[in-house]
Amino acid sequence: MADLSALTAQALVQIGASESLAALDELRVHWLGKKGVLTEQLKALGGLKPAERPAAGARINAAKTELHSAIEARRTTLEQASIVQALTSGRIDVSLPGRGEATGGMHPITRVRLRIEELFRNAGYEVAEGPEVEDEFHNFEALNIPADHPARAMHDTFYLEDGLLLRTHTSPVQIRAMLSRKPPLALIAPGRVYRCDSDVSHSPMFHQVEGLLVDTDVSFANLKAVLHQFMEALFERPLAMRLRPSYFPFTEPSAEVDISCVLCDGQGCRVCKQTGWLEVAGCGMVHPNVFKACGIDSERYTGFAFGFGIERLAMLRYGVNDLRLFYDNDLRFLAQFARG
Ligand code: FA5
Ligand code: MG
Repeated sequence: MADLSALTAQALVQIGASESLAALDELRVHWLGKKGVLTEQLKALGGLKPAERPAAGARINAAKTELHSAIEARRTTLEQASIVQALTSGRIDVSLPGRGEATGGMHPITRVRLRIEELFRNAGYEVAEGPEVEDEFHNFEALNIPADHPARAMHDTFYLEDGLLLRTHTSPVQIRAMLSRKPPLALIAPGRVYRCDSDVSHSPMFHQVEGLLVDTDVSFANLKAVLHQFMEALFERPLAMRLRPSYFPFTEPSAEVDISCVLCDGQGCRVCKQTGWLEVAGCGMVHPNVFKACGIDSERYTGFAFGFGIERLAMLRYGVNDLRLFYDNDLRFLAQFARG
């Protein structure tokens, strides 16, 4: 048998010198593990004379106990040290001057959308949502735009696989609402829409807010009154409004909505191209074919619908002359809307 006290002394030195919990654990395995040095000594007892075995075994066990306590003591010391280390390195110097904090702000499009939602909620409308990935049925067919209809060409659609597409307007939310619920319905549906289109006043992704009211005795006069009140509430000033006859397959009659130019008050300027008027939306009375596609009795119910471009409204409200500024993510531009 190796000199037990020499081995024990060597182990104690190593344990005392160990610098980390991992290193300490390696020592534990080396000396006391299943194949550790002292364990091997116990196995060697078999080579001794029977009379010598008990005494030798007792000495080895005493050595093991001694090393075991030394290791536990060292472990406690190392653990304490690592706690102290963590506390000191994480210490905060409360006397240092602050670095200042830049608060973010909402995107101007989001601000306008939230304001529109609030105005319509106050008027008793609910805010509905629909998927941006749509199918031809909801985006076109149920809206009285069959496959061969020329209006499809006006939409510059991004097509996906399996008959899916990126919705070109928020009007499919009308269909989803009318298919899933019974009239009376009063809702708006703001959201992103997509068209393969890009210049100073057109963006491939933009926002619309759809409006739909279905009940008995809804009239075109109701539509005009709602739109006019909404425009004046949004721009916070009296405005002139006019409806120009237009065409949408899903409304009949259909109109385009003009308001007196908010920049020159109808006097004529660059933004309104000297006309004094600005086009802000499309609208009309829900077409009987649309009611039919949704299983609503068009003899009993009438309804109106409208669709605004939110970027357009934001440009007018904030005097922005290029729609693409909303999507350049230039902080100098965006920071102007952070407050107020
Ligand atoms: C429609 O999309 C109809 N769904 C609107 C509607 C709803 C009519 C309900 C009747 C009843 P239009 O394609 O004109 O219509 O688009 C409506 C508004 O979206 C436009 O007045 C314009 O403000 C905005 N718009 C259209 N294309 C773009 C574009 N590429 N970029 C930014 N705004 C756009
Ligand atoms: Mg239009």
